[in-house]
Amino acid sequence: MPRPRVYVTRHLPGGALDLLAQHAGVTLWEGELPPPREELMARAVGSDGLLCLLTDRIDAELLDAARDLLVVSNMATGFDNVDMAAAGRNTVLVTRTPGVLSETTADFTFALLLAAARRVVEADRYVRAGRWRTWGPEVLLGRDLWGATIGIIGMGGIGSEVAKRARGFDMRILYNSRTRKPALERRHRMEFVSLPQLLRESDFVTLHAPLTPQTHHLIGRAQLQMMKPTAILVNTARGPLVDQEALHYALRDGLIAAAALDVTDPEPVPADDPLLSLPNCVIAPHIASASVATRSRMAMLAAERLLQALRGDVPKHAVNREIARRWRARVRRRQAAGA
Ligand code: GLV
Repeated sequence: MPRPRVYVTRHLPGGALDLLAQHAGVTLWEGELPPPREELMARAVGSDGLLCLLTDRIDAELLDAARDLLVVSNMATGFDNVDMAAAGRNTVLVTRTPGVLSETTADFTFALLLAAARRVVEADRYVRAGRWRTWGPEVLLGRDLWGATIGIIGMGGIGSEVAKRARGFDMRILYNSRTRKPALERRHRMEFVSLPQLLRESDFVTLHAPLTPQTHHLIGRAQLQMMKPTAILVNTARGPLVDQEALHYALRDGLIAAAALDVTDPEPVPADDPLLSLPNCVIAPHIASASVATRSRMAMLAAERLLQALRGDVPKHAVNREIARRWRARVRRRQAAGA
């Protein structure tokens, strides 16, 4: 194929854009916010490859219209923003960036666990409000992580890194996931349990499952009712895993003690969302993977995968490998046509 046409939906950290520019004709959306829908549609229609983010909705309308599009490289480990059925129907390969963000996301999960358990955000507000008048034996008492039980829901790359860190905190580790992971169970000395048992026994419940129709509102009123009144819920996965209205009532009425969310539904969380009025809810703006090194690695990996696909190779971790044969035939036809 002559120089492929690539659309990149945001400025990226690190050397990813330079790499792309060496091998492709790059159009970059320079805005701070995601490209508007019409812009994304129009650019996708004129592109062979798309490097996009989880804020870009790559839906059936777009994939049906973008007749030249061969590959969508999503700079994220999750890919719930991409309509996979429409990608398959249009023989568009979809790639993502798992692995490189697991440790950084697990680190941030612990930042949130500790922030909620030890009331770090409340404490900062307390100091700034001039309320720190003395060392007090009962001031801002929180809960210990060490020795507590953590329940990890989802045992992929990130869940496993969370388990590794929980071991360092001397926590008892329970987990639940689609498939049991015996080797990881041995390595992290953790126990596979049913979701209800995990919810009933955990002091901390942390979510690391992908968003699918099966996991939508995985944590709703019934699940929150199963949790301890002293429990803390952490979500660094996807907002819609939690029924946010049910969470608001649970936090307000003391069904659980606190929550710390890096993701919400919708994103960004609206300024008048009732969660924002609760002192026992910490909210971060979807930054669990946001370290300089990791975001640069994610961008580079997304660029490398995109270029690899545009050369006609199916990259490792392609989400829809099942279309590989049909997709290679499509690329070959394009190469033969010299377009
Ligand atoms: C971030 O949320 C990701 O899926 O990489």
